[in-house]
Amino acid sequence: MADQEEKIDDTTANDGDEDRIGVKKLVHRPHYHFQPKSGWMNDPNGLLHWKGEYHLFYQHNPNGGYWDNISWGHARTRDLVHWIHEPIAMVPTPGSYDEDGCYSGCAVDNCGVPTFIYTGVRGDNQLPCLATGSDDLVTWTKYPGNPVISSPPKELDTVMFRDHSVWNEAGVWYQVIGSGIRDVGGVALLYRSRDLIKWDFMHPLCVGDKDSTEPMWTGTMWECPNFFALDGTYVLLVSVHDFSGPQYAAYMTGDYIDHRFAPSVEARLDAAPFFYAPQTLVDASGRRIMWGWLKDGRSTEAQVESGWSGVISLPRLLSTLPDGRLGQQPARELEILRAAHHTFSDIPLATTDSDRRDILSEVRGDSLELKAALAHGSATSCGLRLRYSPHGDEETLVVYDAQANKVGIDTRHSSLDSSTQRDVWWMESGSSAGEPIELHVFVDACTVEVFVNNSACAAVVYPTNEDSVGVGYFARGGEARIISLDVWELESITQS
Ligand code: FRU
Repeated sequence: MADQEEKIDDTTANDGDEDRIGVKKLVHRPHYHFQPKSGWMNDPNGLLHWKGEYHLFYQHNPNGGYWDNISWGHARTRDLVHWIHEPIAMVPTPGSYDEDGCYSGCAVDNCGVPTFIYTGVRGDNQLPCLATGSDDLVTWTKYPGNPVISSPPKELDTVMFRDHSVWNEAGVWYQVIGSGIRDVGGVALLYRSRDLIKWDFMHPLCVGDKDSTEPMWTGTMWECPNFFALDGTYVLLVSVHDFSGPQYAAYMTGDYIDHRFAPSVEARLDAAPFFYAPQTLVDASGRRIMWGWLKDGRSTEAQVESGWSGVISLPRLLSTLPDGRLGQQPARELEILRAAHHTFSDIPLATTDSDRRDILSEVRGDSLELKAALAHGSATSCGLRLRYSPHGDEETLVVYDAQANKVGIDTRHSSLDSSTQRDVWWMESGSSAGEPIELHVFVDACTVEVFVNNSACAAVVYPTNEDSVGVGYFARGGEARIISLDVWELESITQS
């Protein structure tokens, strides 16, 4: 391990990449997920498909792996896979309405003028602000009349007032802002404007109930709302926030009538807590694509020490399912990363309760895509072992629990470093009895993302052994079988 870090340190020091100064260890940094060259990153912002390229802005502190001095970083990609870093788009202006941070927001095309709507923060004030961009989206000018809304609606007792989703309906702009109503719950506040500058508050688009836990608890405040039409229905994404409770990304689908949203389905977007503050864009082909921030699972000290924190998730394609749920699939473009391909079929899985350890000797790595069809047979659980060390002291499991009919990511033994976040997270498998379980898994250094039957779960892992790169399989409590398994080694993207 020490050797590996030394080698990596040398590479970093010698790579001539001045922007990466401060990143001490490349270990755990993803090979094909987007992240800044160095420093802190949280929410994706201002997603826009502009002149044939996808633009990603993001909450960023270039000065280190900690949240501070919140600016908007910028990158673009033509193919959803290979990213090009661009200069930082916006930084807080000292002495102004955003001196304490340019918080999250969105981007719209206002008759050819790229425009950000973001939250300017000064002390306790969080207020909507505007900036307009050059045609290449590289240079941004803050509107001199900022903030464009001077306070939260006076008639409501709101908690927080930040993050924006803006859209156009028949020539009129609408936006929702994330907030909470004290003692009531999270809320998306709806405004209307003719010019993006003068905004009138209409009413809450939708209000949550902090006391309800069915089908899901929606917290006391909603961060990062994103409202859009999809396949004839309407979708509201929110990041459920509470000062002391759990935080996670959620969605609602339902009707939008008279500018009020009535959700009929509510669910978490991701079973684990890492995928947060997602945003979406529609591309030229009409696809609704979502990215989220994968929160770091290392200690604060480890993040600062390494000089980086946070990863952007893989692009997820959204659809609506017949029962009103939201479907999530990895974007097809990821296939361009595929290099060496290994196929296996009809592998019987261990039948003993002693949890025999089986390994695929042909395959190893921390940059992989796997597609597996499993028949669980009489086993109580079965699945794949990833990031597996030869001694078995580190492993990350993708596990199917036959009794619960759930698929989970089990990171409890992912790392010997006890300061990293480790747990097990479950999502519905969506499979009917007797049907094979079809797993689609992406492994990329500190990330593991699993897709099963239109649901998704992303976890972060930090193995300490250099050789925790094995791939294996297991069954418990009975017999199971891998019907088929495809594994691709995935190429690295060079983020120029
Ligand atoms: C969500 C969030 C947003 C806010 C931003 C600040 O992660 O808290 O509500 O705008 O991050 O960085």
